[in-house]
Amino acid sequence: MSDSGRRLALDGGTPVRREPLLPGWPGGLLIGDAEKAQVLEVLESQSLYRHYGPRPRRKTAELEQGFARVIGARHALAVTSGTGALIVGLAALGVGPGDEVVVPAYTWVATVNAVVTLGAVPVFVDIDESLTMDPTVLEAAITPATVAIVPVHMRGAGADLAAILAVAERHGLAVLEDAAQAVGGHYRGRRLGTFGKIGCFSLQYHKTITTGEGGMVVSDDTALYERAVRYHDQGSVRVEELDELIPEGSPLLIGVNYRMSELTAAVGVAQLGKMDWIIGQMRAHKARAVRGIRGTAGLTIRPLPDPEGDTGATLIFSVPTPEAATRFAQALTAENVRASVPWTSGQHVYYHFDQLIERRFLSRRHCAWECPHYQGKATLRKGQFPRTDEILRRAVHIDLHPLLAESDVDDIVTAVDKVATAIL
Ligand SMILES: Cc1ncc(COP(=O)(O)O)c(C=O)c1O
Repeated sequence: MSDSGRRLALDGGTPVRREPLLPGWPGGLLIGDAEKAQVLEVLESQSLYRHYGPRPRRKTAELEQGFARVIGARHALAVTSGTGALIVGLAALGVGPGDEVVVPAYTWVATVNAVVTLGAVPVFVDIDESLTMDPTVLEAAITPATVAIVPVHMRGAGADLAAILAVAERHGLAVLEDAAQAVGGHYRGRRLGTFGKIGCFSLQYHKTITTGEGGMVVSDDTALYERAVRYHDQGSVRVEELDELIPEGSPLLIGVNYRMSELTAAVGVAQLGKMDWIIGQMRAHKARAVRGIRGTAGLTIRPLPDPEGDTGATLIFSVPTPEAATRFAQALTAENVRASVPWTSGQHVYYHFDQLIERRFLSRRHCAWECPHYQGKATLRKGQFPRTDEILRRAVHIDLHPLLAESDVDDIVTAVDKVATAIL
């Protein structure tokens, strides 16, 4: 490498790449003829609503059946977003005011907002180096008010489900998996989202496959599925499949509206057909990148509970200090290998959930928000989870797009090596 090639682009050297890498929108950048044909079919039918229209195409039902089949769940319900999926799933489990729900301190804020929206209290626990819920601290977070545990499969990879399920079983608690960021991923040979009582997925634009906005709820439990159907559709059951499954006079439930539009579902049907190809590509890119950077002094590649199940959406490694991580990500981005340290930005970490910080959670253990007699300690503070902070501040993330060429992946390796040599 020439001198200017060795000098970091951040310091005026020549960048490893001329153009930035493709951003982390796997399904989004693959939208093409299949999606167009599906959407056109719905438009031409003038039947944009799942339950009726002049010539219904039943795309929402088709997406649900296809998703259930691919994921390996008995039932799937399409909803308007991943957040909607979480709210519907938690409501189906009966989560409500005064209940506590255990969530990891690192997740997209939607996981927490869903809990709070139902009047329940999020109880945070640390993550470990896998960047998912640390099962060894779970037990300490459980109280008589706990009703559910929500492991979140972050950045394409599953949490340590075996250990989490064991704790849940010991305490008789429901597990709801937030698989929004790992749609199509596996754990020990089975798809994520099929281990808990309920699995929730997002089809938002940054996810494995996308409908722009959208979400899915899956369950093997017909009674829970029925409750999810009711909650997402004003308390009613208008899914034909359920007619034969539910007993006469099953309990009523008040619901709202999280129904998916036929246009959204049409895109989903086409995208679902691409999911495993997308994952295969991303996994191949990640394997190549990991082979290239493994052994680089000072880097530790994110350890995963089940590396075989990773969707490959993100390459993550940690470096010795937060300062080095920040500079590493800036230097990589200047080399046109976009990288970030997500601890610092956005609402992915409890530390930045400002709307929840120091609030008084509604809880059976304590008083409600704003309760004058509040004496407890169930508030959320910045710095409350130093281990989570420390892990995340040192973690550098790079999104891997399925359409990368091998030469793009080799550029990632070259850039990581160049930056590591310069700054570690
Ligand atoms: C972990 C996690 N949970 C839930 C969601 C919510 O999904 P959506 O944006 O579709 O509402 C997201 C994604 O945005 C997410 O990353």
